[in-house]
Amino acid sequence: MEKVKTVLVTGGAGFIGSTIVKRLLNSGDIVHVLDDLSTGSLENLPKHPNLYFHHGSIMNKQFVESLKEIEFDMLFHLASIVGMRLATKYHKLVYDTCTVGTSNILDTFKGVPAVLFSSSAVYGTDNKHAVSESQQVSYDQLLKYDANDPGYACGKWAMEQIGIKESESGRKVLILRPFNVVGQRQVGTYGMVVPTFVNNAINGKPLTVFDDGFQVRSFSEINTFVECIFRLLPCEEAWTSGKNIINIGSKNGSSINDLAFIVLEETQSESPIKYCFYEEFFPNHKDVVYRVPDTSYGETYFGNIEWPSLRTIVMNIVQSKTVHAVN
Ligand SMILES: NC(=O)c1ccc[n+]([C@@H]2O[C@H](COP(=O)([O-])OP(=O)(O)OC[C@H]3O[C@@H](n4cnc5c(N)ncnc54)[C@H](O)[C@@H]3O)[C@@H](O)[C@H]2O)c1
Repeated sequence: MEKVKTVLVTGGAGFIGSTIVKRLLNSGDIVHVLDDLSTGSLENLPKHPNLYFHHGSIMNKQFVESLKEIEFDMLFHLASIVGMRLATKYHKLVYDTCTVGTSNILDTFKGVPAVLFSSSAVYGTDNKHAVSESQQVSYDQLLKYDANDPGYACGKWAMEQIGIKESESGRKVLILRPFNVVGQRQVGTYGMVVPTFVNNAINGKPLTVFDDGFQVRSFSEINTFVECIFRLLPCEEAWTSGKNIINIGSKNGSSINDLAFIVLEETQSESPIKYCFYEEFFPNHKDVVYRVPDTSYGETYFGNIEWPSLRTIVMNIVQSKTVHAVN
């Protein structure tokens, strides 16, 4: 029988974190969530005798150290400021949360195997093809993503460097690069495109599409995304230095125009599509034209995964909203 693990999940009240928490609880693990509830919510978490919630920020070292006595077997580090709206407004805080916050966690829980959530933002803005982990991205590219003021992309890259250093000194570290994870319970408040489009379409409001709408994204369904992670966890080699940076996401690219049309069809909405310049919303920032992962490396561990289509994802989100509205 597998040993019950005690696991820390920072950012565990968020969209991805709470899905991981539920999966761990279902396996019988004891889970501690550390979250400041800035974008997450307690409503995302089940009431469960094996779940402990600690309200506070990873930026507060004293608070983080108050959990030092707990003997964790593993930690998932997801706490981060997310979404373009917040990322463009609070560049420095975003950067510091990725660097100081990550160090506070890794230093306090020394040696505990750590799964770090980086981002596809570390690939910068200028790709035209699917990106693989071996692709070199210059710091200039990251700065360009952050409009010359180190924020989300530079911060996630710096966080990866902290993780790489730890793994070079022998610690088990997995660095994951998620690509647009979407699904039910994701909120649109901070600029996530899928929930924003669905809400606007249901409420008869315009769907704002940036530039020409031909930007391509991979939309990766949350449960499939989490399944990949849990298939990776037992693969010893994937945790080792030099092999531990892994893309996770759907290989199917869709344009934002495709997304808008699918949302309008699935909600049977007559909302108009409104085209705007990205820079009007996010001055000095340039939108990423193409962001789709090459997942061949990850697949050597988690196998060939069948990702739900964008239409299926949208259909399920719309259905869950209609059910909530009826009940
Ligand atoms: N959703 C995606 O498509 C995506 C893509 C790439 C990377 N990621 C990464 O995955 C992680 C989870 O993202 P998500 O989509 O679930 O977002 P989310 O906003 O739902 O989750 C982030 C959680 O972190 C918490 N948090 C923020 N700052 C904190 C702090 N200083 N101390 C403690 N808790 C704090 C928030 O309250 C929230 O619960 C993040 O690290 C994000 O950068 C997500």
